[in-house]
This record gives sequence, structure tokens and C-alpha cells, in this order.
Amino acid sequence: MYLVTGGAGFIGSHVVEELVSRGEQVRVVDSLVTGRRDNLAHVPGVDLLVGDLADPAVADRATLGVDYVVHLAAIPSVPRSIAEPIATNHANVTGTLSLLVAAQRHAVTRVVFASSSSIYGNAATLPKQEDMPPAPLSPYALQKLIGEQYGKLFYELHGLETVAVRYFNVFGPRQDPSSPYSGVISVFARCLAEHRQPTIYGDGEQTRDFTYVRNVVDGTLRACTAPRAAGQVINVSCGGRISLNALYRIMREQTGSDLEPRFTDPRIGDVRDSQADITRARELLGYVPLVSLEEGLRLTMAWFETQ
Ligand code: UD1
Repeated sequence: MYLVTGGAGFIGSHVVEELVSRGEQVRVVDSLVTGRRDNLAHVPGVDLLVGDLADPAVADRATLGVDYVVHLAAIPSVPRSIAEPIATNHANVTGTLSLLVAAQRHAVTRVVFASSSSIYGNAATLPKQEDMPPAPLSPYALQKLIGEQYGKLFYELHGLETVAVRYFNVFGPRQDPSSPYSGVISVFARCLAEHRQPTIYGDGEQTRDFTYVRNVVDGTLRACTAPRAAGQVINVSCGGRISLNALYRIMREQTGSDLEPRFTDPRIGDVRDSQADITRARELLGYVPLVSLEEGLRLTMAWFETQ
């Protein structure tokens, strides 16, 4: 059985959907703070446990009888972590530690932890390679780094197999555009669907390795079973990079819009450039990105237009 923590969230619901389509048995634990029941409404037969993973009793119930854990539960936002360092630390660090303790107790086969490219900070060279020294610029980045290191420690101390997959700016259907902390593609997509002007923070020349959600689902599920992945940190993304200005131009062309963006001050804690080296994912997971940026944007826009 698979446990997907944060399975009612954006990425989690896609992981659950894929596992169910493969005939796997799936349990979800979700606090429903950022996740939504509706995200799983179309997936049959999922056992949903609502609770805070940082509570040891919840983590204990969630991991009982589980073989693989995909640990996505988190409050995933750089600016929100700056505004709310204690609440995000609770979700992202205490939640992870509590899960690892329970997974060890129930002799789970492997825990795959969703980590973040934000750990690299403004590392001087691109693309970013897993062995580069971490340089967190926000509580979120530091919390994800601590999560990775707790995972590694539990592997070394207790033999609990853990893998950290570092995601880079994931986007796709069901990403929530409605909070001030929402991912930029969901925000742009909603603006375009509603014919409203989007805002770009800074000059728009910052770059990101935007990755369609199906790619990270594939990489993450490979990490659950790949023989040589235990104890590793692995970038999972597309391996490209594009500026926000260029991204917005593609989205605008795809939708036939002529809306110009509004520019405002840069956001504090923002990384300038982000691009992954995905050699390790290819070697250890047999991973190759399945969906290109352009195709992913088309699929995402099509979904936002139905909302
Ligand atoms: C970061 C992490 C990512 C992590 C995510 C969680 C990096 C490189 N990436 O993404 O791994 O999973 O946080 O939230 O650190 N922007 C606008 N207009 C908007 C919204 C955003 O211009 O309306 C800009 C931001 O200032 C930023 C870029 O778009 O430069 C991307 O922002 P966002 O989608 O929030 O993700 P990151 O902070 O890059």
C-alpha cells in the first residue's frame, strides 16, 4: 500500500490518480489546510485520513500497513514561510520528523520526500547539481533542507530507506491560483482565463525550470522503487529554464490574448535563476521528462478555461 501525505493537494492528487490507475491501494493523509477534498472527488477508492501529520497519533495511524510513502504534505511557499516561519516550520519540519518516526516504527519500505530547488539559493553556477552546497534564502528552503537531512539521518541511523526528490517550479491542473502565495503559472493562467492583467515581480528576467506535474509524478514514483535511489537527493524537473517574460509571452500567444503584464518591485527571498541538472535522475531513476513546457502549458490553460 502507498501512503500519499498531502494527497488532497495539487501534486498529491496527481500522484494519487496515477497510483489508482496503476491498480495500487492508496491511503491519503491531509490536513486540508492547502489541500481540498474536491481534488480527489474524481478518484475512486481512496482512503482519506484528515489530520495534522505533526501529531504523532495521526502519523502512526497513517503509516500502519504501508509499504511506500510519498511525502508531499507541506506548506509550500517561499513568501508564506517568510511571513509565517513558525507555522510553516511546524508543517514542513515537525510534520516530516513525525512521519519518519512513524514510518520507522511500522517498518515502511521507503519514504520519498518532496524537496525543493529553493535549497540551492543563488548558487553561482547553472544548472544546479545535487552536490552543490545548499544556500537557503528563506525559511521554506531551510525547512526543506532539514527535511532532507532528517531523511538521510533516519536512513543512516535506522536503515529506513529515504529518497529526497528536489522539485523545480511544478505546474499543472488543480494548482490553486487563489492565494497570495500561489505558483506563478497558476496565477498567470487564471488572469488570462479571466482577461485580467497579471503582475510580474521585478524585471521578469528571472528564470525558472518550470515542470509539468506529470513529469514529477513519474520521477517520484520511480524513486519509490528504484534500487539505487535510497539515501540519495535527486533533482526531478525538465532541465531547462525560461524567463518569466518569455513564459508569459508563450501563455499569451497560446490563448490569443494581448494583455500586457504590470511590473512591480522584486519579491524578497526570490532566487534569480533556477535550472536543474537532471543527470542523476536519468541514471538512478531512468527518468526522462515526458511532457514539454509548451505542451504542459496548453494542458494547464485548457483546464483553467473550464474553471
Ligand atoms: C519556489 C521554489 C520551488 C518551490 C516553490 C514553492 C525556487 C527557485 N523555486 O518557487 O522549488 O517548490 O517555491 O512555492 O526557489 N511571480 C510573479 N508574479 C506572480 C507570482 C510570482 O512575477 O504573480 C514571480 C516570483 O517573484 C518568482 C517567480 O514568479 O520570481 C516564481 O514564483 P513562484 O511560482 O512563487 O515560485 P518560486 O518562489 O520560484
